[in-house]
Amino acid sequence: MSEMNDSILITVVGSGYVGLVASACFAEIGHRVLCVDNDEAKVEMLNAGRVPIHEEFLPELLERHGGTGRIQFTTDLSQATQASQAIFIAVGTPQSETGNADLSYVDAVACEIARSIRSYKVIVEKSTVPVYTNDWIRRAIERNGVSRSLFDVTSNPEFLREGTAVRDFLHPDRIVLGADSEGAAALLASIYAPLTTGSYYENPNAIPGSRSVADPPPILQTSTKAAEIIKHASNAFLAMKISFINVIANLCESVDADVQHVARGMGLDQRIGGRFLSAGIGYGGSCFPKDVAAFRYVAQQLGIDFNLLSEVEKINERQKQQFFQKVRSALWTLRSKRLGVLGLAFKGGTDDIRESPALEIIRMLLEAGATVKAFDPAAMERAKKELEPGPAMQYADGPYSAADNADALLILTDWADFGRLDLEKLRYTLRYPIIIDGRNLYDPRQMQELGFTYLSVGRPSPHISVEAASTKRWP
Ligand code: UGA
Repeated sequence: MSEMNDSILITVVGSGYVGLVASACFAEIGHRVLCVDNDEAKVEMLNAGRVPIHEEFLPELLERHGGTGRIQFTTDLSQATQASQAIFIAVGTPQSETGNADLSYVDAVACEIARSIRSYKVIVEKSTVPVYTNDWIRRAIERNGVSRSLFDVTSNPEFLREGTAVRDFLHPDRIVLGADSEGAAALLASIYAPLTTGSYYENPNAIPGSRSVADPPPILQTSTKAAEIIKHASNAFLAMKISFINVIANLCESVDADVQHVARGMGLDQRIGGRFLSAGIGYGGSCFPKDVAAFRYVAQQLGIDFNLLSEVEKINERQKQQFFQKVRSALWTLRSKRLGVLGLAFKGGTDDIRESPALEIIRMLLEAGATVKAFDPAAMERAKKELEPGPAMQYADGPYSAADNADALLILTDWADFGRLDLEKLRYTLRYPIIIDGRNLYDPRQMQELGFTYLSVGRPSPHISVEAASTKRWP
């Protein structure tokens, strides 16, 4: 893509979501990339051109740059460290029992890098980590006998979302560079220069997105600690927005108001903004649940009262329970009921089921004695490992087959296709025309006109509103 003149040799450690997308995108903006993973089978698979995750544009980029050798996969961290100027650490930081981030992978990688440093390197933490991790990495490297003049540790958090990861990386809202040395900051800035100068967007083969040569992303240079906090604070704030609107949804439900109108009315205020105000069944995924818990733990360790985050978590847990209760009260009892389920992934556009609210709700339904027939366009193979197929848990090959002869259909993931179903066909496919939509994909009035009993989250439900109105009283 971009000219190779300013090409920098970069190592990315970890070929998970962030590592793989970052590797492909660094190659796309003109750098040479060595992506290191200690999982030999995965490295072999990637070198053979197979892509382990479902992500738009990723196969194209890996093919585009794998073929030219601009991106290579290897298990040899030592050799990669010696060859490159910048080493990005993008390994997992799972949640430990106390809620804090388990940094043992980061620590192991830092020690291994230290053993291979022969000339000046910039080490970049890209994994989501608690404040002070940068200092810990620096100390770990020094403890392994590396002179302070031979390295700098910086922080460059990543804000990509699964499902739109490549676009988010190449068209970011901002690029945050946390560096405590000018030299390290300058190298990081030059890595991102094709984006921040806008030159990447002039290329006719550039991945399309919101940024352009006239409107390139801003770069924000901060201390390493501020950069670490920016990442945790951003995820916690977004999770808080979701929990906030979910409580508003519950409030709307009890007075027959529409949460989507309320969210729009709030979001038009530019200080609030309309995004991440979609009410539903709670947030999931590999980031928000883990990061909110880790940030809460960090605050607690520092003696800061941040109970707000515990509330965010509690609301999120309750939201799933409440949806389950909604299904139960719509069907009276769940024992022996046949339920069609649309959606297993934690959100649309991905095959990721980590902390998926859909899976949690299905578990509750199964425990209550229902049988489930589920469909998801991408996440079924992964889901089968968590929820084994059997008489009570079946998988369908399409949305209509999931709905076939079911007592009700549940929508649990916001795949765009689930909002475009042939409703006439669906009505005749279901045993009873009941749809309980955890993602608010349809218009309740239209659903009523089509003869459905349609329940959603935080919106008036025409079929039950008469009954509800007669039982509800203002205090
Ligand atoms: C999230 C952040 O959005 C990214 O900026 C961040 O880089 C990433 O975590 C990370 O730390 O790696 P992601 O987990 O891919 O990205 O998913 P989101 O699109 O943020 O959705 C998270 C959950 O919130 C999903 O379950 C989604 O369905 C739910 N959600 C989102 C809502 O319930 N309502 C909304 O309005 C938005």
